Amino acid sequence: MTWRATVLTLFPDAFPGPLGLSLAGRALASDLWSLTAVNIRDFATDRHRTVDDTPFGGGAGMVLRPDIIDAAVASVLDSADADDRPIVCLTPRGAPFTQADAAGLAAGPGAILLAGRYEGVDQRVIDARGMREVSIGDYVLSGGELPALVVLDAVIRLLPGVMGAADSAIEESFAADLLEYPHYTRPADWQGRAVPDILLSGHHGAISAWRRAEAERITRARRPDLWARHTAAHRGAAASPAPVVSRAPTP
Ligand code: 6GU
Repeated sequence: MTWRATVLTLFPDAFPGPLGLSLAGRALASDLWSLTAVNIRDFATDRHRTVDDTPFGGGAGMVLRPDIIDAAVASVLDSADADDRPIVCLTPRGAPFTQADAAGLAAGPGAILLAGRYEGVDQRVIDARGMREVSIGDYVLSGGELPALVVLDAVIRLLPGVMGAADSAIEESFAADLLEYPHYTRPADWQGRAVPDILLSGHHGAISAWRRAEAERITRARRPDLWARHTAAHRGAAASPAPVVSRAPTP
């Protein structure tokens, strides 16, 4: 079954963009997923093709009109009966998009993505259509197009047949909430920098243990939030090999 993506946007030329290349592009060409970009402006009703208006209550910027967005959503749903795809509104005020969200979307029939522009979308159409408001991180982008591409990329690589089975198995594993260990390739000595000896040893057990220890070390240092989740999720599993660098003395 083809995983169906429909993006509502004022910039349909932004799609498929980088998703037409490499892994996602090959999957698109072989119908593992499909992409339709719908131009929100096509649902404007006046001769200036207006899609936005000033915010009630005052303030900067413009807000996408609920009637225009609703008509765009309706056009997508009308063209396919029993369309139960979730509608995702990309907005910096959304809930953080996670790997679990990507996996959830990949397990379903597809998604309808609303890429907002200007200051935002009228809240009533978000509520009326039961949209999930999603953000890709704690920074502000000028529109939802890049976030839509990010969400789609995260989903597409999880679809059956897009990547090798080995890769997807690893995704589900113990390593899911750890950052990756560092990678090295030839030459073994580059500008006087040697590859860690262990990786040249041929001892696969020792290599796995080293990679695991490196993944844990870097996760603790960079992402204490992920590390806390990891230790909570895997309590009772193998004890972490390296000691904590520093902490308050225990009473
Ligand atoms: Cl989903 N949209 C915009 N405009 N900015 C963002 C974002 C989304 N996620 C993080 N920043």
